[in-house]
Amino acid sequence: MALETADLELAGLRLDIAGQVEADATAPAGSVATVTLSRPRRRNAMTPGMWRGLARIGGELPPQVRVVVITGEGPSFSAGIDLRLFSAEGAPGEETPPDPRSAGFDEWIAGCQAGYTWLRRPDIVSIAAVRGHAIGAGFQLALACDLRVLAEDAKLCMKEPALGLVPDLTGTKPLVDIVGLPRALEMCLTARTVDAAEAARLGLAEIVVPTSDLHAAVADLTAALLATDPATARATKRLLSLAPGHTLAEQAAAERRMQSELQTERLGPLPPR
Ligand code: ACO
Repeated sequence: MALETADLELAGLRLDIAGQVEADATAPAGSVATVTLSRPRRRNAMTPGMWRGLARIGGELPPQVRVVVITGEGPSFSAGIDLRLFSAEGAPGEETPPDPRSAGFDEWIAGCQAGYTWLRRPDIVSIAAVRGHAIGAGFQLALACDLRVLAEDAKLCMKEPALGLVPDLTGTKPLVDIVGLPRALEMCLTARTVDAAEAARLGLAEIVVPTSDLHAAVADLTAALLATDPATARATKRLLSLAPGHTLAEQAAAERRMQSELQTERLGPLPPR
C-alpha cells in the first residue's frame, strides 16, 4: 500500500487510523482517521510535498473511515507555506515551484489544491482541531474541513495578500460562504488575525474550548457524528452541500429525491404488484 509511514513522515505528516474514539468505545474499528501536521519545530509550515501527502491520504483512505480529524503537533496548527520556498535556496528536499508565468503553473497548483479538496467528500466528515496559529495555507486547510474546533488560543489569519499572493488553496469559497463577502474582504486585505472568540462569532468555529480540552472536545464531537447511521450521514451531507447553489424549489426537489434514494437503498426496490 502506498500510504507508507516513512513517505508520510518525509512529507511532515502522520496518519493514525483509530479503532475507537475515547468518548465512544463502541465506534467501529477504523472509523476515525487523524492526520497530524508534524513539523512542530517549524510550526508545521507546509510544503508542496505535504500537500501531495495530504492528497495521497485522501485518495487511499480506507472505506470504513467516516471522520477525519486534521490537527497540528506542537503549539501551532500551521504557520502556512514554508517561507523558505520563496528563497533562492528553497526548502530542503522540496521541489521548486514552477514559474507562475509558465504553462505548467495551473496544473501544479491544482495538484497542491488536491490536498485540500478531498476533505469535503460526502463519505467523510472532516474536523480541523486548531490550537495556536493557523496562517495562510494553514488557515485554508482549516477552512477546507467541514467543521472547526478551536482552542481558546487559536489565531486565524489569511496572510497571503500581505505577501503579494492571492489565497489559492481553496480557502476563498468557504471563507466567503461562512463570513460573507464584506467580512472576507476585510479579513483578507488587512491580513489581520482573528482570535477564537471572534472566530466563533463569525461562524468560523463550531466549538471553542480551553486548550487543554481540545482533544476531548474533538473526541466527543467525533463520537456524536459516528452515532448517525453511515448512509444517512452521507446522504445528509450531500443534500446540505447542494443547498447554497439551489433555489428553495430545487432544494425541496433534492430533499424528495434523496429521501427516496436513501429509503430505497435501505428497503430494496418495491416488489412487483
Ligand atoms: N516557514 C518556514 N519556517 C517557519 C514558518 C514558515 N511559514 N513559520 C515559522 N517558521 C520557523 C521559524 O523560522 C522558526 O525557526 P527557527 O527556530 O529555526 O528560528 C520556528 O519556525 C519557530 O518560529 P517562531 O517565529 O520562533 O515561533 P513563534 O511561536 O514565536 O511564532 C508564528 C509563530 C506566529 C507562526 C511565526 O513563526 C510566523 O509569523 N511565521 C510566518 C507565518 C507566515 O507568514 N506564513 C506564510 C503565510 S502565506 C501562505 O501560507 C501562502
